Amino acid sequence: MRAIVVSAFGGSSVLDYTEAPDPVPGPGEVLVDVAAAGVNYIDVYHREGRYPMPLPLVPGSEGAGTVAQVGPGVADVVVGDAVGWVSVPGAYAEKAVIPAAKAIPLPPGVSPEQAATVLLQGLTAHYLTTSTHPVRPGDTVLVHAAAGGMGLLLTQMAKLHGARVIGTVSTPEKEKMAREAGADEVIGYDDFATRVRGLVPEGVDAVYDGVGAATFDGSLASVRARGLLAVYGAASGPVPPFDLQRLNQAGSVFLTRPSLGPYTAAREELLGRASDVLGWLASGQLHVHVFARLPLAEAARAHDDLEGRKTMGKLLLIP
Ligand SMILES: NC(=O)c1ccc[n+]([C@@H]2O[C@H](COP(=O)([O-])OP(=O)(O)OC[C@H]3O[C@@H](n4cnc5c(N)ncnc54)[C@H](OP(=O)(O)O)[C@@H]3O)[C@@H](O)[C@H]2O)c1
Repeated sequence: MRAIVVSAFGGSSVLDYTEAPDPVPGPGEVLVDVAAAGVNYIDVYHREGRYPMPLPLVPGSEGAGTVAQVGPGVADVVVGDAVGWVSVPGAYAEKAVIPAAKAIPLPPGVSPEQAATVLLQGLTAHYLTTSTHPVRPGDTVLVHAAAGGMGLLLTQMAKLHGARVIGTVSTPEKEKMAREAGADEVIGYDDFATRVRGLVPEGVDAVYDGVGAATFDGSLASVRARGLLAVYGAASGPVPPFDLQRLNQAGSVFLTRPSLGPYTAAREELLGRASDVLGWLASGQLHVHVFARLPLAEAARAHDDLEGRKTMGKLLLIP
């Protein structure tokens, strides 16, 4: 099969479009013909070695397609099923093997390509707005990079739950996109905490921060007493070591660094969240902006655009 293979960690040039052996499903696994792979920031961290992975690596943490073969002991997934998955490497390829326990059946009306646009970031936005900080009507939340893949979904879900959303963005085009997703206020990054306190003097109930190092101090200064700061990513780099006393000074603020794994570890929870996200997509309550559909061979360009802050919404790779 054709695949993207990483043989040494590094910049986007290590994403080699090449021939690779067809993967074979073992016990409890299924082989999927990949229709589309979603591009996510975690793929960049894997490529760089920031989250070390065994090499050689076929990256890609999100995909969807049609089951082509099932391994021994698989009972609830059959050949021909349309499935999506997250948090299993290997989606940047024509074929991928995934554990059957990770296969998310796609409901009627949701194509594999649509599933690959929404699953990873949608499940993340879902747990952030329903579990990490369950958003309630009347809440005000701050969403950084509000026109990004995560940001557009967080904005829409926070609005679905009845919140007022303040978003940060870097360009006028991104401002327009964030407003179309429902953001009530859209601001730039310069001195954003002062802007936020001007809009909400007591501070916001929750901050969703996937930018990390560059925004952390301002995020902490934007949260209300006993509010929550969820640093769920590090697009600008990781937050340096942190003195807990600062949470006291900020007014008994809660700080968390969540990730998708623990919020989808039980199959029931994975499928419950996926059912909400795919259901909202099918009913038109949730929209995904596809920034570009690129051929698999252009994975390096996809990473360059994502890291270069050029994208809005979702990037897809089509094998
Ligand atoms: N913890 C989890 O479970 C989880 C799951 C999924 C994603 N994430 C995290 O969510 C974040 C967003 O992921 P995504 O795939 O949706 O990407 P994205 O938001 O579409 O792209 C990243 C955006 O971050 C903003 N940004 C600000 N400073 C930046 C900098 N120095 N370098 C690059 N970008 C910068 C840019 O928007 P502006 O130009 O508007 O600033 C950029 O477009 C990432 O940190 C990712 O790791 C976490």
